[in-house]
Amino acid sequence: MNNTVKERVLSGIQPTHGSFHLGNYLGAIKQWVDLQNTNDAFYCVVDLHALTVETKPEDFRKRTLASVAQLIALGLDPDKCTLFIQSHVPSHNQLSWVLECLTGFGEASRMTQFKDKSQKAGSDRTVVGLFTYPILQAADILLYQANKVPVGEDQRQHIELTRDLGQRFNSKFGQTFTVPEGYILKAGAKINDLQDPTSKMSKSSSSGGGVIELMDSPEVNTKKIKSAVTDTGREVIFDEKEKPGVSNLLTIYSALTGKTIDQAQNDFAGKGYGDFKSAVAEVVVEYLNPVRERAEELLKDEAHLKKLLKIGAEKADAVASKTLKDVYEALGLIPRG
Ligand code: TRP
Repeated sequence: MNNTVKERVLSGIQPTHGSFHLGNYLGAIKQWVDLQNTNDAFYCVVDLHALTVETKPEDFRKRTLASVAQLIALGLDPDKCTLFIQSHVPSHNQLSWVLECLTGFGEASRMTQFKDKSQKAGSDRTVVGLFTYPILQAADILLYQANKVPVGEDQRQHIELTRDLGQRFNSKFGQTFTVPEGYILKAGAKINDLQDPTSKMSKSSSSGGGVIELMDSPEVNTKKIKSAVTDTGREVIFDEKEKPGVSNLLTIYSALTGKTIDQAQNDFAGKGYGDFKSAVAEVVVEYLNPVRERAEELLKDEAHLKKLLKIGAEKADAVASKTLKDVYEALGLIPRG
């Protein structure tokens, strides 16, 4: 396919945990894998964003590499997409500063994620980086002239800000940025916590028992699925209101087997919750086993992983530094010469 007609896609994920979970995969990464085939896709492990949460250096280092390994194991192919670590491309910070100077204080104060997180932590424990977080995210996107940004519903406001900042810059200083469209991922792929099936699967809001981790052993994950909360009644029926637990397990089963929810339901007609959970556990383990093994293998050869990242960073840097140069020029900053 001709490169010039492909749309540019960019997305980012934080390396905040040693393992991604099934919700991350089905809600986002799976779509990233699909999009790399038909688009010019840039995927970024946003380590700088993760600094807004306090981290232990050795742990942080491991998590970042583990994130990259898992993304590759899940199907991101460094030959098809540009996979890189945010901090390897200094233009992200440089553009971020420029955009900070175009963002109103009130405008940034209205970001709901910032409001939620800072309210929970209290102002003395909220770092300034959390406030400017969406502006760095806008820089991530605008640097690559992205057309589409695949993200979850919770990122809609950040994409709006990115669009506003891109348009603002263009109208003040001349056409420089592509104004991206959000590409909000399908809600059908939303996976909930196994212990609290009306809340999204998420490590920050859960004790861990309801979260299927990609890097966990088959035994641990089987156990978690077998102890998933089910609902009253005995039938395996998709009904998110009355049977959120069963519906969540059906969603997982259907997403991993490629069957529709109806087909999934038919597979368990006349069967009880016990058989149902065993079957879901089997599907999950069979799906995740090769992923975990591949990620572990990649992590054993750090030199190879770093080589892939270097190639990714160079490809990303080539695009990003060109945009930054245009931005500086448009602003009237004097080139070093
Ligand atoms: N804020 C995003 C999230 O938490 C992560 C992110 C950072 C991102 N930079 C990005 C997503 C750029 C898309 C594009 O999910």
